[in-house]
Amino acid sequence: HGTSQINDQGHLVIGGCDTVQLKEQYGTPLYIMDEHLIRSRCQEYMQAFQASGLTFQVAYASKAFCTMAMCRIVEEEGLSMDVVSEGELYTAMQAGFPVERIHFHGNNKTPDELEMALDAGIGCFVVDNFVELQVLNAIAASKKMMPNILLRVTPGVEAHTHEYISTGQEDSKFGFDVGNGTAYQAVKEAHSLEHVKLLGIHSHIGSQIFEVDGFQVAVERVAAFALEVQQQEGISFTVINLGGGFGIRYTSEDTPLQVSEYVEAITTAVKEHFSKLEGALPQIWVEPGRSIVGDAGTTLYTVGSNKDIPNVRKYVSVDGGMTDNPRLALYEAKYEAVIANRANDEATELVSVAGKCCESGDMLIWDIELASPVAGDLLAVACTGAYNYSMASNYNRIRRPAVVLVKDGKSDVIVERETFEDITSNDVIPARLTRTTI
Ligand code: LLP
Repeated sequence: HGTSQINDQGHLVIGGCDTVQLKEQYGTPLYIMDEHLIRSRCQEYMQAFQASGLTFQVAYASKAFCTMAMCRIVEEEGLSMDVVSEGELYTAMQAGFPVERIHFHGNNKTPDELEMALDAGIGCFVVDNFVELQVLNAIAASKKMMPNILLRVTPGVEAHTHEYISTGQEDSKFGFDVGNGTAYQAVKEAHSLEHVKLLGIHSHIGSQIFEVDGFQVAVERVAAFALEVQQQEGISFTVINLGGGFGIRYTSEDTPLQVSEYVEAITTAVKEHFSKLEGALPQIWVEPGRSIVGDAGTTLYTVGSNKDIPNVRKYVSVDGGMTDNPRLALYEAKYEAVIANRANDEATELVSVAGKCCESGDMLIWDIELASPVAGDLLAVACTGAYNYSMASNYNRIRRPAVVLVKDGKSDVIVERETFEDITSNDVIPARLTRTTI
């Protein structure tokens, strides 16, 4: 995976850093992020769009991994950013990310969030529903502002990995349905409001998608909708946002395409279907998250106890688990791993990797061949850059791990390991529970 190698001592090396040394320096569990890989993925997107000749924005979906250092990298690579909450917006602003390059998503943005984003001068709101449309217009009116908006539509395409379902009307909490006329009504309403500026529409069809046909059908439907709106209402969209969802390889079962192949399929479909409309081709925006950071991340754990149940299974436990990676518990996600301090040793023992939480569902990997892990070994789980740190929790009051950024043999902490003080820092003991000395 990635830029990882094995050195003379048989240690796994990531971004030029020996994982055994990283453990000594920072402890485990530890998230390791490979800066070079993150930057390459950003560049692949930018270059593929440049090659298409279309006007575009690539907005990193920060929900996948949102820290201030990550915002800095994304900014340097020239991407925009998608945020879904005041916390993500705050993080980006604290990192000095240009606010006009931020797009604000979410199906229930609070009035406070809308106000915060307006005051900051956000680049665009992706409006999800009629309530938000009215509230945003009213708040913007009170501030004499006119923010850019896109309307999120559900084009009736739902893609999961290598399959897509094309349905009449999607049962989803997100967006305005194209199929039943709601999206059409939303466009008319948004267009008539005086304090929002309608740029176009947004469609996101799913996540961890391998094949291009779902995206192509979405483009076709969005273009047909845009044509209808243009012909009947005289409204032309200048921006079409096609969301994220481009898949990555977690294990050998996964068969994603290259970033450039996804981009090429989308831009070709845009040129084909939008050329039927009048005027210039719209700008194309996308919002990749997982495919920017997913394979750049590795989680390093220390192996502890084990339980060998003869003829059934051997559980090997590590010092983290669902608190730093809830994806197996949530989605039955699969991962590959290696014993990082003996990376050349043959993986011959079938084990299952468990976490340390007080819950049977706290597993990281079912059935993987590893090089007979024993207490003290280091386990490196690959492809944990997306939706791991960002979905981490303090269940069992476990402290969230540190995150280090590695590049060319250098490592820097970009998120400190939580302290015991962090764990109780928001706790309050009401006076009536205060122990009094008699
Ligand atoms: N844009 C919108 C509107 C989205 O809802 C999402 C993901 C993205 C972009 C980025 O999608 P990506 O390129 O990362 O696939 N926690 C789940 C994934 C949830 C994705 C939610 N929306 C997981 O761990 O697999």
